[in-house]
Amino acid sequence: MGRAKKVVLAYSGGVDTSVCIPYLKQEWGVEEVITLAADLGQGEELEPVREKALKSGATESLVVNVQESFIKDYAFPAIQANAIYENRYPLATALARPLIAKALVEAAQKYEADAVAHGCTGKGNDQVRFDVAVTAMNPDLKILAPAREWGMSREETIAYGERFGIPSPVKKSSPYSIDKNLLGRSIEAGVLEDPSQEPPEEVYEMTKAIVDTPNEPEYIEIGFVKGIPATLNGESKNPIELISKLNQLVGNHGVGRIDMIENRLVGIKSREIYESPAMVALIQAHRDLESLTLTGDVTQYKRGIEETYSQLIYNGLWFSPLKAALDAFIQQTQERVSGTVRMKLFKGNATIVGRRSDNSLYNPEMATYGAEDRFDHKAAEGFIYIWGMPTRIWAGQNNS
Ligand code: ARG
Repeated sequence: MGRAKKVVLAYSGGVDTSVCIPYLKQEWGVEEVITLAADLGQGEELEPVREKALKSGATESLVVNVQESFIKDYAFPAIQANAIYENRYPLATALARPLIAKALVEAAQKYEADAVAHGCTGKGNDQVRFDVAVTAMNPDLKILAPAREWGMSREETIAYGERFGIPSPVKKSSPYSIDKNLLGRSIEAGVLEDPSQEPPEEVYEMTKAIVDTPNEPEYIEIGFVKGIPATLNGESKNPIELISKLNQLVGNHGVGRIDMIENRLVGIKSREIYESPAMVALIQAHRDLESLTLTGDVTQYKRGIEETYSQLIYNGLWFSPLKAALDAFIQQTQERVSGTVRMKLFKGNATIVGRRSDNSLYNPEMATYGAEDRFDHKAAEGFIYIWGMPTRIWAGQNNS
């Protein structure tokens, strides 16, 4: 008896996921493997990937384009939440996982599969994100993770694949482990495993080195409607266009590189390089527009929510009651977050240089130091008398 009869496997075309196909059939008695490759704007030809799955023994090979949903339903809420894990990582990889899981669950339902599968190892965050998301959407579906159990080295995996007609990688494969989508690139392994070493320039693709960036600053203007980015330099852009164009513009000035040691959910620290130009700029701009349109108490309270929200994305709880509850809060705060933010891109910096909103709470008559000042200075005295009351009483006690 096998572990499952019909399985939908998350498929990337790489060695590991390809080897999963014969492995599931030979070792675990699976009868049919249907592969699913998600098009997240990774910029890779997916037709060869589709064919490779069939050559590797898949009964059916699906390619689903989920780019639009990725931006609208995953990236935009993350921007509204200013979601940045451990203050650095804009979560490009983490945001894609629940969406891939959703596609797997939907395909499993359509093809009446009794399990889904993925090629994650037991050391990473992605296995947690897939498994928890799948369980949240369909607790009855089995989840198979061959690479978590097979215990084969890289060489053994390749050799195993060759026995079943899976070609070993032709070109000497990259020493890095790279995950890429519309929101950015995540790069680890190889020389990057030594956290004291500067990453070689070759790891970067979406961002220019500062020595190569333009010698003139460039100004861009991003328009938001209820916390959602909608225009670039005054022009309406659909979600995919907006992100792609911003990646180019911002990356060209060397903005959006991140080199960090992060805390994985499974307790390990890992060194990761990220490039995420559009997300870095958008979150910065969005946060700035909030500073103009939200009251101080909402802004300050929201920071705690943002921290929790970032952690839950990272930790695989996208489909969870906590996420749904925080979404309600965040959506409520975004009602008036509309307007434009002007940014100056120059030599690795994205600097906010101006912001404008019809819902601005900035009141010139209150803020000015000039003659138009309408602030009642005398009222401050009574305010301070009461505000300072507890401190005055405490200070008067004299029990040092
Ligand atoms: N550490 C990041 C995360 O957990 C990215 C992992 C992506 N994988 C990679 N091969 N770099 O979201």
